[in-house]
Amino acid sequence: MVPWLTPTLCAGLREAFQRVGFDVDGVPALLGPAAHAALSRDEPVPARLATVDAGPLGICIRLFLLGDTEPESAVAEALAPVAVADAVAAGLLRGGPDGLRAALDVRPHGDDRGGWWVVSDLDTRPGGRRAPLGADHVLGVGQASLSLASATVRRPVGRLLDLGTGCGVQALHAARHAGELVATDINQRALALAAATFAISDVPVELRAGAWLEPVAGDRFDQVVCNPPFVAGPPRVRHTYRDSGLAGDTVAARLVGALPKHLTDGGVAQLLACWLHVRGQEWPDRVTSWLPEQGGVDAWFVQRELADPALYVGTWLRDSGLDPASPQARREAEEWLAWLAANQVEGIGFGFVTLRRTGAAEPTVLCEDLLDTPVGLTGEEAVGWLDRVDWLRAHSSDAALLAARLTRSPDVLLERFAEPGPDGWLPVGSTVRRLDGPGWRHEVDDPGTALLAGCQGALSVGELLALLAAAGSRPTAELVAASLPAVRELVRHGLLVPVE
Ligand SMILES: C[S@@+](CC[C@H](N)C(=O)[O-])C[C@H]1O[C@@H](n2cnc3c(N)ncnc32)[C@H](O)[C@@H]1O
Repeated sequence: MVPWLTPTLCAGLREAFQRVGFDVDGVPALLGPAAHAALSRDEPVPARLATVDAGPLGICIRLFLLGDTEPESAVAEALAPVAVADAVAAGLLRGGPDGLRAALDVRPHGDDRGGWWVVSDLDTRPGGRRAPLGADHVLGVGQASLSLASATVRRPVGRLLDLGTGCGVQALHAARHAGELVATDINQRALALAAATFAISDVPVELRAGAWLEPVAGDRFDQVVCNPPFVAGPPRVRHTYRDSGLAGDTVAARLVGALPKHLTDGGVAQLLACWLHVRGQEWPDRVTSWLPEQGGVDAWFVQRELADPALYVGTWLRDSGLDPASPQARREAEEWLAWLAANQVEGIGFGFVTLRRTGAAEPTVLCEDLLDTPVGLTGEEAVGWLDRVDWLRAHSSDAALLAARLTRSPDVLLERFAEPGPDGWLPVGSTVRRLDGPGWRHEVDDPGTALLAGCQGALSVGELLALLAAAGSRPTAELVAASLPAVRELVRHGLLVPVE
C-alpha cells in the first residue's frame, strides 16, 4: 500500500513536532552530543537511555528515530492534534499488541538556516536489523544525497527542477534559493512520501510523475539537480532508487545529453553519475562523448571515487540490505560481475557533473580527478568554477590575460620537494596547493613560483613576466608562451584570483 499522508495530517504533524521540539535543534539538545553522535553511527542504546522519562519528545525520538514500540496513549499525547487512528490509516504508524511503532521514517533534517522534516521508508526491521529493501523502497537522506546537496550551486534562481526527488531532500535545500520548484519521480511511493515531506515542512513544490524528462517535456529551468538511480550494471531494475533499467552508464549518458535542452540560457544542471572505465578507453573520452553534438554546454566532470568491479558490486549489494554471502546476493553478484566483464569494464568511476547552457562559441569541457581528498565538491567551489570559466573565456586571448591583474588566493601554500643527494638535499620540484576547497594542487617551476610571488594585484601579468624575463635574461616572448597555460590553470582552480 502506498502511504497517503493528507495535507491536514501533515499540518497536524508539523504542529505536534514544533510543540514537542522534534526538530533539528530539539533532538540534539535532548540527546546530548555523545548520544546524538552514537545515533548517527546507528548505535541506538545511548539515545534510548537519554530519552527515558523525556516526555513527548522522547516518545517521538524512540518512535521515529529508534524504531521502538510505544504505548498508544503516549503516542497520542505526543502527536496531538493528529489522531492515532488517522496516522495508522495513512500508513505512518502500525499497531501491534504492545503499542504503536512507526511504519515510515520521519526525521528532522536541516541546514545552517533551519530545519525541515523528511519522510522516507524505514530501512531497518524492528530491533534494528537491516532488511533487504523492497523494489519501490524510498531512501532517506543518505551520503549521496548529502554530497549532491553540498555540491549544489546555491545562487538565487527562478525555476528549479529536482529530477528523481525520492524523499524530497534536494528540493527542500533548493527551496532556500529557488523561486519555484518542480520535483519528479517515476515511483508512486516516492511521490507520496515526497508530498508528505513537503507538506510537513511547509515547502511548496509541484510534484510530477513520470520517467526521466518526460514530465517536463518542453519546460526549461534555471537550475536542475538530479541524484538519479546511477548504479552501473546490467539493464534491470531491482530497486528503483538504485537501478535505472538502462545498461551500464547509459542513464548518465542520456541525462548529460538531454538535460541542457531543459536549461534556460546560463542555467546550470548538476547530477551525480557513474561512468564505466572500459578497457582501451580513457574515461574523459567516454563522458565527454555524451555531451550534445551541437555544443553550447560548459561541462565539468569531477571523478570522486573509482572502484574495481568486485568492490563496486559488493558495496551496492550491501547497500540494498543483502548479506554478500547469502544465496540471493551470490546470484546477483555473479550476474552483475559477468555483465561487467563481458563489457570490458575494468573500473567504475563516480562523481559530479556540472553542466551550464552557454551561448559561447567555445564552451569549456573539463574532466578532473578528485580522488583521495577529504573534501569533495562544494557548491561554493562549483560557483567559483563557473565564474572562473566565464572570466577565462572573456580573457581567452593572450593580450587580455597579459593585461589582467591577478592576486594569489590567501589560502595557497607553496610546497618544495627534495631528495637526499651526495651533498645534502637535492631539490626535485615544487607544487602550489589551495588549502581551502578541494585542495587543488599544481606543479610549478621556478619562474612560475616567482610569478605567483609577484601576483599581488598591483602589476599586470604581462608586466610581471617582463620583469621576470629581464631578471632571468630570458626573452619575454618565450617566458610568456611558457607561462600563460599554467596561469590559466591556476585561475581555473582558484589559486590565482582576478582583480577587477
Ligand atoms: C538515488 S534516489 C535519489 C533520491 C533523492 N533525490 C536524494 O537525493 O536522496 C533516485 C530517485 O530517482 C527515482 N527514479 C528512478 N528511476 C527514475 C526514472 N526513470 N525517472 C525519474 N525518476 C526515477 C527513484 O524513484 C528515486 O527516488
